Amino acid sequence: MKLIVTSPLSAESCSTELEEFLADIGLPYVPRSGKSLPRLMQEYHADGVVVWKDNGPVLHFGGEQFFFHPSMAKIRIGAYRKSNQDDPMIKACGLQKGDSFLDCTLGLGADAVVASFFTNDKVVGLESSPVVAAIIKWGMRCFTSDISWLTEPIQRIEVINADHNQFLAQQASNSFDVVYFDPMFRQPLMSSQPLSPLRNLADPRPLSLDTIEEACRVARTRVVVKERSDGEEFRRLGIETILSTAGHKLAYGVINIS
Ligand SMILES: C[S@@+](CC[C@H](N)C(=O)[O-])C[C@H]1O[C@@H](n2cnc3c(N)ncnc32)[C@H](O)[C@@H]1O
Repeated sequence: MKLIVTSPLSAESCSTELEEFLADIGLPYVPRSGKSLPRLMQEYHADGVVVWKDNGPVLHFGGEQFFFHPSMAKIRIGAYRKSNQDDPMIKACGLQKGDSFLDCTLGLGADAVVASFFTNDKVVGLESSPVVAAIIKWGMRCFTSDISWLTEPIQRIEVINADHNQFLAQQASNSFDVVYFDPMFRQPLMSSQPLSPLRNLADPRPLSLDTIEEACRVARTRVVVKERSDGEEFRRLGIETILSTAGHKLAYGVINIS
């Protein structure tokens, strides 16, 4: 897949931030020169184009747009703030204020943002796809809003472009309170609109038993895996404690570290 980076039609950018973004994403910059995105893609034989905007990069690819947006996280945090409604992921993780949280499958970052709100402390998000990692990292970095309960948790998240298998192997034992996985489902839930643009970019590999074993070494309190409530992954990975809500399509497998 060939991707290029350019500026919006309204402004040719050349900021330090853009230079850093280009180094992160490892893609070439092409001047916009007033051209439409389809024309640029045709000229450079590209499959997609990232437009660097002040409020974060936007990837145009396969007729869809991919960028960081905290809408799902905002709804979840909002439900807790308004009506004290439990968040099922936070409940499954047993996450307490001050806990450190390692999100091994960052994706769009919604789970990481919710975790960051609840811990008010260290959250690290790992993403193996360089394009996804760079778009979400810079989208989070450029995100501005006057809603401080959303902005602060977003800005606290450290995004790292890394394969969680390699990252976990390099961590000291018990170095994060909670280690969390939300891998791409074996059978996608087609109703999950927010994940739709991610499907073509994401790393589709399933979790391995070795990964779970390493996660149990690195976690101090819990390892948690998200899966479809009708999925086979918990059984395959030997996870016995499963938290699900009647009528919900998602479930959380919990391994308590004692
Ligand atoms: C279903 S998405 C996660 C969605 C995320 N929980 C959210 O709230 O937006 C799974 C993500 O994990 C990434 N991923 C898969 N395998 C990985 C690995 N070995 N290391 C790091 N990231 C991985 C995929 O590229 C994808 O972006």
